[in-house]
Parts: sequence; structure tokens; C-alpha cells
Amino acid sequence: MTSRSVRKVTESVEQSEGEGDGTTIKRCLGDDVSDIVDPFLMLDEFTVNPPTGFPDHPHRGFELVSYILKGTGQHEDFMGNKGKLKTGDVQWLTAGRGIVHCEWSYGEEKAHGLQLWINLAKDQKMQEPSCQEMLAEDIPRTSKEGIEVKVIAGEAFGIKSTIRTRTPTLYLHFTMNEGTTLNQPIPKGWNAFVHVLSGKALFGPESKEKLVIPTQTAILNAKGDCVIAQNQGSDPCSFILLAGQPLNEPVAQQGPFVMNTEEELHQALEDYKSCINGFERANSWQSNFQQSNS
Ligand code: FE2
Repeated sequence: MTSRSVRKVTESVEQSEGEGDGTTIKRCLGDDVSDIVDPFLMLDEFTVNPPTGFPDHPHRGFELVSYILKGTGQHEDFMGNKGKLKTGDVQWLTAGRGIVHCEWSYGEEKAHGLQLWINLAKDQKMQEPSCQEMLAEDIPRTSKEGIEVKVIAGEAFGIKSTIRTRTPTLYLHFTMNEGTTLNQPIPKGWNAFVHVLSGKALFGPESKEKLVIPTQTAILNAKGDCVIAQNQGSDPCSFILLAGQPLNEPVAQQGPFVMNTEEELHQALEDYKSCINGFERANSWQSNFQQSNS
């Protein structure tokens, strides 16, 4: 097997809209690299101070994956889904033709987590919205030679996730103990990146390794069928590995809408404003969070 090398290391960038009430949003991946990580559009690492959050807002044309690393979050959407997410839980939300939802933190401690946006193919963008939730205890996990993996999507170490992906995606959370080395297969032709949460590790083939630390994201080159990671230092290294089959389609994005053309974007805005073509329920729905804070 040939390890992919690191193409580019990016630093997370704090977003101004996340300021206030102890809330921070660090953009790990954004517009500037979305062409080389297709089908991924964005990765944010957030810290939210209870009881603040993100009031009712729409999405169309892609999927949102929220992963709570610590603390508790709550969500509510206009399809009637509502629930609490605690440490280790995952919500996989397919916005499809339209969703309006609200996300906020509650409890005593700050909620710390990740939100990933995965693009949908043209013929999947206008599907009915849907929501999959995987509680921490239901996420398949196993350990091998000092390395633990949680399989959020796809397969690793011989175990599989039950999450149904529309765009083929591998989403793994590894924790590597001191002195361990990982060799993780990545499907050919898929774009891939890693984001380090704690500790530090070298990624890439021998003599071409790059050190990656927390707040950094390493985008991997397309050539190769696996990635080699080596923990550096005496602390465990925790990181996520994402890989996805590229869509190779034009992307037109404006805020919470991701379509293929400017016309479709304009249509999405009009549909949302007029509460039609998938946004009908936006007319009468308001989350409990919004109601109690307005
Ligand atoms: Fe959202």
C-alpha cells in the first residue's frame, strides 16, 4: 500500500459571527479549499456557552454532520425532529430540498464539537429532508495495538457504521496511544483530510511526513491508497479522518444554500422567502428555543 502525502496544512480561522457569550467558531475548512476536498464544503470546530446557540435558519442542497466532542447540545427542526445530543453523539442531517432548524447548547458546561458540511450530487439535492442520529454508545468502536477507532461513517478495523451516506463518505475518529503507528486504507480517487483535536502526529509516507497539531487540518494528496499516521509525543493523539467520493459538479453557494447554478441559488432564496417547494412548513413553524428567546 502507498501512503498519501500531505498536500496542504491549514490553520483554523476564528469566525467573527461566532463572537459573544463565550461562543467560538473556528473554520477548519472553508471555501478556499473546497475544490480540493470535494465533496466536503466546510468543517467548523465550535465551542458554545449554554444556553446560547444558533436560532432558526434554513439549509438546502447538502448534508450537515454534527459531532459533539464534549458537553450537550439540543436541536429542533420543522419536520418535527427534536432531541438532545450529549458527548460523543452524532446527528447526520440531510437538508435535501429544504430544512429550517435550530441548534443550541444547554447544561452546565460549554458544548464543544464539530460540524461538517457534505455536498449532495445534483440529482440528490432536492430529496426529502431526513435526519439520522447515532448515540455515542451506538457508534461502532474497536481498538487494535493501542489505537482506538470510532466509525461514524464507512468502515475501519473490520467494523462498519450503520449511517446511510448519500455521498459516499468515510468518517473516522482515531485516538492513538504513545508510540503507535496507523495504516488506514482510503478508497482510490476519494479526497481526504485529517483534523487533529489533541496531541500531535506525523502524517504521510516515510521521509515525506508532516507534523500536524490541534487547530490544524491536513489535506491529503489524491495519489495513494492509505494514510500512515505516527503519534509524536507522550500524549494520545486524537484526530478525525474524512474521505469522500468527489462529485465533480459545479458548486454555487450562498450562506446556507448550496446548489449547482446561480439560478438554482436564486430559486432557493425565493422558495425560502415564499415558503414553497420544500419550505412550506417554514410559514408556521418556530422552534421552542426561538419562541422562548424572542
Ligand atoms: Fe444549521
